[in-house]
Amino acid sequence: MDFKNVVEKDITKIKAPVLVVFHAQEDDLEPYIAKIDKMLGNVISRLVDKKVVTGKEGEVNVIPTLGKLDVDEVVVVGLGKKDDFNHDTIRRAGAYAVQNVKKLKTDEYAVFMPESIELEDEMYARAFVEGTVMGNYQFTEYKSENKETVEIKKVTLVWEKDVSLDSVNKGVEIGKTIANAVNYVRDLGNHPANVMTPTKLADEAQKLGKQYGFSVKVLDLDEALKMGMNTFYAVAKGSEEPAKFIIMEYNMEKKDLPLYAVVGKGITFDSGGLSLKPSNYMQGMKYDMCGGAATLGIMRAVAELKLPIRLVGVVPATENMPSGSATKIGDIVKSYSGVTVEILNTDAEGRLILADGLGYVSKNYKPKSIIDLATLTGACVVALGNVVSGLFTKDDTLAEKLTKAGYDSWDRVWRLPLWPEYYELLKSDFADVKNIGGRYAGAITAAAFLSKFIVGEIPWAHLDIAGTAFVDRAKAYTPKGATGAGVRVVVQYLINEIEQ
Ligand code: BES
Ligand code: ZN
Ligand code: ZN
Repeated sequence: MDFKNVVEKDITKIKAPVLVVFHAQEDDLEPYIAKIDKMLGNVISRLVDKKVVTGKEGEVNVIPTLGKLDVDEVVVVGLGKKDDFNHDTIRRAGAYAVQNVKKLKTDEYAVFMPESIELEDEMYARAFVEGTVMGNYQFTEYKSENKETVEIKKVTLVWEKDVSLDSVNKGVEIGKTIANAVNYVRDLGNHPANVMTPTKLADEAQKLGKQYGFSVKVLDLDEALKMGMNTFYAVAKGSEEPAKFIIMEYNMEKKDLPLYAVVGKGITFDSGGLSLKPSNYMQGMKYDMCGGAATLGIMRAVAELKLPIRLVGVVPATENMPSGSATKIGDIVKSYSGVTVEILNTDAEGRLILADGLGYVSKNYKPKSIIDLATLTGACVVALGNVVSGLFTKDDTLAEKLTKAGYDSWDRVWRLPLWPEYYELLKSDFADVKNIGGRYAGAITAAAFLSKFIVGEIPWAHLDIAGTAFVDRAKAYTPKGATGAGVRVVVQYLINEIEQ
């Protein structure tokens, strides 16, 4: 999909197969709509009188122009109430627009970008493009019929305001890159576990590295075991599918650039292991690698944007399966960091593989921060639903930065506490810690567990994306299935770090 920016104050001058205009839920027609309304014989104002066109968010009306304008159809997209506007309004509007234009079987359309939406040029363009590209996403790989028929080739953004073309072009580029990375992560997540195995995930990382220019190293289970990754091994050893420990490095040779690290949970299927899940709880457990997938997406976006930072991305990838060689309840293993763990529930496996992921990063690199992303706990879904990801960190500055990046990108995060009282719940009778904390505060005790494996004083934050990484109800630019949660907030955090 290509985007083009032009400045044209006079909406009636637009030539395109389809023209999209936005309409807020207010009493009056916006001046630009009034102008085309007049040329169309007041058809729009009549529809307003009949309360067909109301401006309610997501409402779409298609109005044929019968040759009275240089466009075949005008698509009026409702934006909701002006009081509720923010940059996500335009992201969602972009999604409603593309989804409905596609029904008109055109591969090209123009969108009038009104001055009345008060966003700064770059963010205005970026949010619109993000919404369009993410809203255009469909996963039809395994459908024999009903595959997508129209592919949108060109979208022209027609600006009413004298925007800086440099700024809006930059917004388009950033928006496209981030949204394509999000869609890529959705693909990885939506593939079933029989396809998206640890081996496949590692191959994808290798491919990305070649395409976007970063180095990728993949350890197999024997190598990981030799290095002392026993908590990773404890999860992987029950599965027939070969496990992989993926290490990606961007710009690592540029020693002057600040270094950051991301670690993602790559459980390609979570059966629970010997602490077997009931089968209805296993539905959706193909998505348990979404933190790992997001890590690949973040590497891709950062490398494509050529951000002036160094970035290491680590994904321990394995299935969690029950078998004769699986970890038993009560087994004790020593993590890469040296902390011993009593495994009392094999379904709390994400924290075990992340323990070695975090240990590996904190022992071998000196990053300014480590952020991990994981579909870690059902408890986080209970607490926050699928609206916002859980944020856990002891570092107030990092918490503030991630919260801000969440609002800036509208991939929001909400902090929960990590106070010393919660650590009491992880005390083991026989080892340094146990891998479960009991019935209460499950999202917090999981995060507290993770914090034990950071070696040295490195600011660390954990994002629990269990509720946000996949959804069973579609929203504006988020279709059913994998969402790509975590990519936008972390990439935004890294962009903000450069700009500070
Ligand atoms: N992958 C699950 C968490 C999960 C649940 C993600 C629902 C997405 C949706 C994780 O490995 C798990 O099973 N966690 C257990 C932990 C418990 C055994 C302490 C949970 O949340 O029940
Ligand atoms: Zn589990
Ligand atoms: Zn899991």
